[in-house]
Amino acid sequence: MKIFEIDGHKLFLGDVLEVLSSEIKDNSIDLIFADPPYNIGKDFNGFKDKWEFESDYLEWSYNWLKVCVNKLKDNGSLYLMASTQSMPYFDLYLRDRLTVLSRIVWYYDSSGVQAKKYYGSLYEPILYCVKDKRNYTFNSSHILVEAKTGAVRKLIDYRKSTPSVYNSEKVPGNVWEFPRVRYRMPEYEEHPTQKPTSLLERIIKASSNEGDIVLDIFSGSFTTSFVAKQLKRKSIGIELQEKYLQIGLRRLGITPDDSEEELMSEVNSGELSPKQLKLNLQL
Ligand SMILES: C[S@@+](CC[C@H](N)C(=O)[O-])C[C@H]1O[C@@H](n2cnc3c(N)ncnc32)[C@H](O)[C@@H]1O
Repeated sequence: MKIFEIDGHKLFLGDVLEVLSSEIKDNSIDLIFADPPYNIGKDFNGFKDKWEFESDYLEWSYNWLKVCVNKLKDNGSLYLMASTQSMPYFDLYLRDRLTVLSRIVWYYDSSGVQAKKYYGSLYEPILYCVKDKRNYTFNSSHILVEAKTGAVRKLIDYRKSTPSVYNSEKVPGNVWEFPRVRYRMPEYEEHPTQKPTSLLERIIKASSNEGDIVLDIFSGSFTTSFVAKQLKRKSIGIELQEKYLQIGLRRLGITPDDSEEELMSEVNSGELSPKQLKLNLQL
């Protein structure tokens, strides 16, 4: 395991369960975003995202989900992404341990191969859960979107005690439309399942405050840490693949020119000296 830290942002290179159990305190995290391998055969730099049996995948997933619940503060929130076929299992598992407040559909326009003999997939499900439904962060005013119905047509809402025009803004519903990250978009990184910054912005703005700790247990290209930094949150990111960690280091502004002290690197059992570590940062 390797740890890199700068200005309240920690990046771990290591296995999710190992890092969670040895490095993250129980009851310490405000917001968890979990975007695991979907068990659909993607290639994460040589790691094959396919378990032999679905039951093995689920058992592995329940292990880290259980630990995540312990890591959340009492007023914390968890967002989980999964494939459409796996989400029902996660939903059943989590509704016994947390309160599921929304079942969100992230909808996007299709790209790539178009299905001809069945209905092609145009969405990914996101489960939004909180530990305590009477006490959680939800900054509704920070994520308002345009309310098209009524307001655009300048209708008067006569149901109100004093009739007035419809609101022109509203809290988003549970169908979110954000374009997928595609090659040559400004935010594109070389990762097969990179999530859009717009998606993470909504989640982080809604479910955390400035200074809060946002944990992404499958960081990939470290989109969550990148957005958390822009929004003045602290972040912790975990990723198994060195290639993707390098993307994260760059997105977080950790360059080979940073001073050794600033990086505050720690390597389990001291395998690497700070100098070696600096070399590791060469992109
Ligand atoms: C779906 S991707 C996450 C993408 C990310 N949200 C982004 O925006 O780039 C899942 C990531 O989990 C990583 N991963 C797979 N197994 C892991 C494990 N046991 N521990 C930590 N990370 C793992 C993969 O390398 C992959 O980058």
